[in-house]
Amino acid sequence: MTESETIKVGVRIPGETAEYQILCGSGLLENTGEVVRAALGGDVRRVAVVSNRKVFGLYGEQVERSLKRGGISAESFLIGDGERFKTLRTAEKILGFLNTAGIKRGDAVITLGGGVVGDAAGFAASLHLRGVRLVQIPTTLLAMIDSSVGGKTGVNSSFGKNLIGTFHQPAAVIADVSVLATLDPREMSAGLFEAVKHGAISGEKLLRTTEKMIVARNRDPRLNGAETQAVFAKGIAEHVRFKASIVKGDAREAVTATGNRSRKILNFGHTLAHALELATGYRYLKHGEAVGHGVQFAAELSKRLELLPANSIKSLNDVVHRVGNLPPVDKIGFEAVFSALSNDKKSHGGSIDWVLLEGIGRPVIVSESTFPRGTVLKQLKAFLSPTQR
Ligand SMILES: NC(=O)c1ccc[n+]([C@@H]2O[C@H](COP(=O)([O-])OP(=O)(O)OC[C@H]3O[C@@H](n4cnc5c(N)ncnc54)[C@H](O)[C@@H]3O)[C@@H](O)[C@H]2O)c1
Ligand SMILES: [Zn+2]
Repeated sequence: MTESETIKVGVRIPGETAEYQILCGSGLLENTGEVVRAALGGDVRRVAVVSNRKVFGLYGEQVERSLKRGGISAESFLIGDGERFKTLRTAEKILGFLNTAGIKRGDAVITLGGGVVGDAAGFAASLHLRGVRLVQIPTTLLAMIDSSVGGKTGVNSSFGKNLIGTFHQPAAVIADVSVLATLDPREMSAGLFEAVKHGAISGEKLLRTTEKMIVARNRDPRLNGAETQAVFAKGIAEHVRFKASIVKGDAREAVTATGNRSRKILNFGHTLAHALELATGYRYLKHGEAVGHGVQFAAELSKRLELLPANSIKSLNDVVHRVGNLPPVDKIGFEAVFSALSNDKKSHGGSIDWVLLEGIGRPVIVSESTFPRGTVLKQLKAFLSPTQR
């Protein structure tokens, strides 16, 4: 792939009228206007761009200029930066803006930012006039490979994270790897840990692709080189294809689906990750870092249950370690994590369904009620102890 080549991944969700394109490449923001016009049809005139101050300060002007060149007028609205702004209150403010700006059914919302902007603005887009079209411009690696694909939107509340939301598929996604140059290194690693999670459940091919992305980032941390950008564009496209393939088969995460292609397998590593995040008040770890720990925990649990051979664990842990150091968890305290896990248990009707591995690319969903007594407890004690890891 040359620097200017763009990879297009077409996604068709059963039940939705049209296929949409996910574009992966570098320098794509320059062509936002063209892409939006192609995705929304020639008669689109107005869009609302939702972003935050940091990302809009970096890329807003470029996006607005390109839209203008494409004959599309844009009004922008900035939300607060950070997970604590992914709230109903923010969604309400966005809805107020869409209303005041006079965004009509034929117009669209464009999100420019990470998963927080994408989730909150996507949620508002699904509610405004019972749903207006949405173009996602994810600007973090996590948002490119994960949150912008699959149609889940939502906000956090006092009831919990992401419990209020909708399914609202985008009309297009523009993943421009050039914007990753300004991403905080910790955010980049957080995205790479999520990428390793995808690799673990998808198979050796995606795991190796992820490893190539990690090696390229380690060599060129700001992704300045054309070669690094090409590795990322290709890698992101492969991740997106994988996530889309799972979403296609189970677009609305059917409650009864438990097969190894159900959307639930995407939660690999997330049971412990959510407990670690809850136990530390969502402040100590980035979500992706919690997933990095969660992937290792779920792999070790799989080994303890004699599902996963030791050599597969080693190959997976090696990739996790190449991403970088994870903030240590030995000071978090067993009680806090165990009680956070128990909380999860209550909200899942008494027993947690763990996503485990029988091999790389062979996820299985296993109810904790089938584990020998004390399995998770023992595993957690070992995991949180500084001497064992
Ligand atoms: N909808 C889904 O299916 C789905 C899936 C996974 C995660 N999520 C959600 O995604 C959110 C996390 O997303 P995230 O990791 O992108 O976090 P984020 O949106 O908070 O972005 C991380 C930080 O990077 C900054 N930033 C973004 N792009 C930048 C750029 N190009 N240059 C410099 N700084 C930049 C942001 O302003 C922010 O400070 C969570 O709320 C999570 O629940 C949703
Ligand atoms: Zn995640």
